[in-house]
Amino acid sequence: MHISFSSDEIDYSQEIYQILLLADRERVDAYRTAIERTVKSGDVVADLGCGSGCLGRLAIAAGAAKVIMIDREPKMLNLARSLNQILAPGADIEYVLGDAREVISRYKFDVVVSEIIGSLGSDEGMGEILWKFSRNNLRSEGLCCPRHIQVFGGPCRWSPERKVDLFDDTSGGLFRGYHVEFNPKTLELAGKPKQLFEIPGRGHPTVKYRWTHRFGSEKKEMNAYAVWFKAVLAEDVVLQSGPKSKMSHWGTAVIPIDDHLLKNGTVALTFTLCSRSGQCQADSIRSKSSHSISRIQNLRYF
Ligand SMILES: C[S@@+](CC[C@H](N)C(=O)[O-])C[C@H]1O[C@@H](n2cnc3c(N)ncnc32)[C@H](O)[C@@H]1O
Repeated sequence: MHISFSSDEIDYSQEIYQILLLADRERVDAYRTAIERTVKSGDVVADLGCGSGCLGRLAIAAGAAKVIMIDREPKMLNLARSLNQILAPGADIEYVLGDAREVISRYKFDVVVSEIIGSLGSDEGMGEILWKFSRNNLRSEGLCCPRHIQVFGGPCRWSPERKVDLFDDTSGGLFRGYHVEFNPKTLELAGKPKQLFEIPGRGHPTVKYRWTHRFGSEKKEMNAYAVWFKAVLAEDVVLQSGPKSKMSHWGTAVIPIDDHLLKNGTVALTFTLCSRSGQCQADSIRSKSSHSISRIQNLRYF
C-alpha cells in the first residue's frame, strides 16, 4: 500500500514565526551550546537563513570576529539588522540578500551556522543549502553547525486530545496531510523506528522522498506513522523532534494509518513525501499517473 503525504505550509520568513523560533527554548539553548563549542575567537562565521539573526548573534557572543548574515527575504535582513543594533551594538556584521545556495562570498568561512530544519528534517531544503554554500565558501577544515541531521520514521500509537481533520483521499492510492503533534504524551512508539536518510553538514545529501517500512507484530498496536529528525549540532549536542523528545516548535509529523490498511496481509507501507502545495500538487502527480519523485517539482533536488 502506498501513502503519499504532504509537507507543511509554514513560511518561516514571516516575522510572526520568528517569534515562535526565538521562544523555542530547546532549540535556542541547543544552538547556543553548539555554537559555543564550535566557534573560536576570531572566526569568520556565515549565518545561512539568518531570520531574526539569533544564531549569528550567538556566534558573536562566542567570539566570532565577523558574521555574514544571509537571507533570501529582505524583511528578514531588516529584522536582523534592527535587532543587531540593540542586541549586538558595534559587532562586525554584514548582510547578504540572496539564496544561500547561490552565494559566492569574498570571505572563506571558518564556521557555518544554520537552522532551516523542517519537521521532516529535509523539507525546508537544509541539506542542499548547507552542501552548496559550504562547497563554495567554507574552508576545507571549516565546521557546520549542524554537523549532520538524521531523519527517522516509525510506527506509533497516537491518541490526539482533539479530533484532527486531515486532507484524505483514498481514491487511487492514498494521499494524506500529516499532522504536527506538539504533545509528546499523545505519542508512543509501537515498534522499531528506522533511519530513513541522513543529511551530512557539508557533504552531498541523499534525501529520500520515498521509503518503504515493513511491519511485523507492531501492526496490532500502531495507528499512525511518525517522522522526526535528530540534528547533531556539535559533538554531544543533539536537537531532536519525535515521540521521545522534549517540547519544541517542531513537534512530530504524524501520518494516521487506518486499521484496514494494515489488515489483509499488508506487511509494508510505502510513503512518498509530496510538495508543500499539498492537495493540488498531489492531484497533478496522480493525473500524470506517476509517483516519480523527480516530477514533484518543488522537491526536485539539484
Ligand atoms: C527557520 S528560519 C531560521 C531563522 C534563524 N536562523 C533562527 O534560527 O532563528 C529560516 C530562515 O531561512 C530563510 N531561508 C530559507 N531558505 C533560504 C535560502 N535558500 N537562502 C537564504 N535564506 C533562506 C528564511 O527566509 C528564514 O528567514
